[in-house]
Amino acid sequence: MGRFAFEHILTDEHRMIQQAAREFAEQEIAPIAAEYDESGEFPMETIRKMGEMGFMGIEVPEEYGGAGMDTLAYVLAETEISKVDAAHGTIMSVNNSLFCHGILKYGTEEQKQKYVVPVASGQAIGAYALTEPSSGSDAANMRTRATREGDYYILNGRKNWITSGPVADYFVVFAMTNPEKGHRGITAFIVDGDSPGLVRGKKEPKLGIRASATSEIGFDNVKVPVENRLGEEGQGFKIAMAVLDAGRIGIAAQALGIAEAAYEAARQYVQEREAFGHKIGEFQGTGFKIADMKMRIEAARALIYNAALAKEKAKETGARYTLEASMAKLFASETAMYCAWAAVQIHGGMGYSKELPVERFFRDAKITEIYEGTSEIQRLVIARLETGLRV
Ligand code: CAA
Repeated sequence: MGRFAFEHILTDEHRMIQQAAREFAEQEIAPIAAEYDESGEFPMETIRKMGEMGFMGIEVPEEYGGAGMDTLAYVLAETEISKVDAAHGTIMSVNNSLFCHGILKYGTEEQKQKYVVPVASGQAIGAYALTEPSSGSDAANMRTRATREGDYYILNGRKNWITSGPVADYFVVFAMTNPEKGHRGITAFIVDGDSPGLVRGKKEPKLGIRASATSEIGFDNVKVPVENRLGEEGQGFKIAMAVLDAGRIGIAAQALGIAEAAYEAARQYVQEREAFGHKIGEFQGTGFKIADMKMRIEAARALIYNAALAKEKAKETGARYTLEASMAKLFASETAMYCAWAAVQIHGGMGYSKELPVERFFRDAKITEIYEGTSEIQRLVIARLETGLRV
């Protein structure tokens, strides 16, 4: 950090939030990360404290309960939290981008007051329900239905892999209001977690980010008031995609945090551990891994800053930043996976042991290549935008 020209774009305010997130993560999260990973318990206490620190709505204006900062501030804090524990990073990212960003961008004043204020201030947890058992990457092919009846919509269907599903107070839910229209028949809604008929499925047992709770959510004749529709009827798919553009920058920042954590553990280990009469970092097979990790991390950081600046600019111009977000997410997640793999390999048996956190980094890294659009979907998005062809 600090040795790259790119770092000069950070203001004093950026450095302050980065430092605050780093200190919070080291003091409050580091001591509990392994325990919560093991138990899979949701870390409500630290999440509430993160809310008090302003980390749950960094880009949300202060009038709506947030910290009123920019996208760079968000990615800096997201990286620092995820560097210590990616599970906290996941909960933070969903609150910030998938929940608050969408309602801020498309919601009414009443929706912002009622839903963004508590989630951005960390008093409530938000979730985003797009994926279904039979439609993951093919998100437009959803089966959940919303039928208008007077002043309500009646929701029926099933969503799965919902981050924070077991604990969320509010959900942004996508449902078909007009199936004949395909993706143009999808509408977004804000649904209260205590709505009658909203059923939370069992918590998924996961490989990584285990302290972040994930579950299926069922909708059995759930009545949603018309005033809880987010945007217009038929606008839902575009809202889902635009919100994911923001979300993918958050996941890229999370992946960067995991990559940095793995890298720093490996760099320290190669300078201490000896084999065959040498520090293991003196062997090219090891030193070259350190070089590749460092290079990929700085390239990921550059792509993430680029995406953050593109999103910032979009606040004025309204332009899309899909390409920048997908490139950052794709490269950073593959960097996280590479660095976590290399760190485990460098540590040998110790890398496979729960006595050190590198095995957790390895398990946590994988999800960044899957959620909020797999690496294959990111490649598809980039190739389509670059060629104009239907890849
Ligand atoms: N912003 C705005 N509009 C967009 C857009 C974007 N980024 N991307 C597409 N659109 C618009 C298109 O312009 C098109 O508009 P028209 O109606 O005017 O034609 C419309 O959306 C449909 O676009 P496509 O034809 O490209 O749609 P598609 O069906 O081929 O799907 C896809 C494209 C990229 C594959 C998309 O389905 C996708 O991103 N899939 C992955 C889904 C995903 O990331 N899921 C993760 C869920 S969240 C999660 O992980 C859980 C969690 O809790 C963290």
